[in-house]
Amino acid sequence: MSDVEAQKRAAGDAAAQLVESGMVVGLGTGSTAVWFVRALAARKLDVLCVATSSSTQALGEELGLRFGELGETREIDLTVDGADEIGPGLSLIKGGGAALLREKLVWEASRRCVVIADAAKQVNTLGKYPLPIEVVAFGHKTTALRICDALAECDLGVAPRMRVKDGAPVRTDGGNLIYDVACGRIEEPAALASALKSVTGVVDHGLFLDLADLALIGAETGVVTLEP
Ligand code: A5P
Repeated sequence: MSDVEAQKRAAGDAAAQLVESGMVVGLGTGSTAVWFVRALAARKLDVLCVATSSSTQALGEELGLRFGELGETREIDLTVDGADEIGPGLSLIKGGGAALLREKLVWEASRRCVVIADAAKQVNTLGKYPLPIEVVAFGHKTTALRICDALAECDLGVAPRMRVKDGAPVRTDGGNLIYDVACGRIEEPAALASALKSVTGVVDHGLFLDLADLALIGAETGVVTLEP
């Protein structure tokens, strides 16, 4: 196993230790969240899970975890999920796996959110990782132009690019498209978040601000704990 994978696994294992029987648990998406899901299933606790993607739900069911729908369980006690970048105050970029909308819905419905990652995800300023934006397919080219205007308002002279995989546009679990924006540096994440949210056709974006309560970061020396 590579060092990076070992760090992801250590973070996922540490997060699984935060779960107690009787909890409703939100399960994130991505390669780090997979380690958490595996470690949680191995503990054989009596928990009810809410998934942030169909792929996570499929893995969890295969491992014997029990699932409920968001809104049909009582409040989620704890959600554990990965991130593409972790910046100051545990501000995050998420959505590299195209699950950002379901992730944000689950995070916002959770009493506590824990982000897990390898050490390379920690940054001083968000923005090196392209910011994902989920867009309704109808009229998406017009929406992309409006996103350009919103970016310009935030002094970001960059254009969004539709995410394509194997020659076809990537579709989210909700059937929407993803546009990625190579911002470079996001000096004012809150202003950018609100500018993007105000564009009709934008469903949501990958800036997760003031949502993470704790970060567990795998490092060479072990798992480092960070608070906002
Ligand atoms: C999924 O849409 C993302 O938000 C992931 O949580 C994020 O991309 C981190 O993924 P990895 O753990 O695979 O790096």
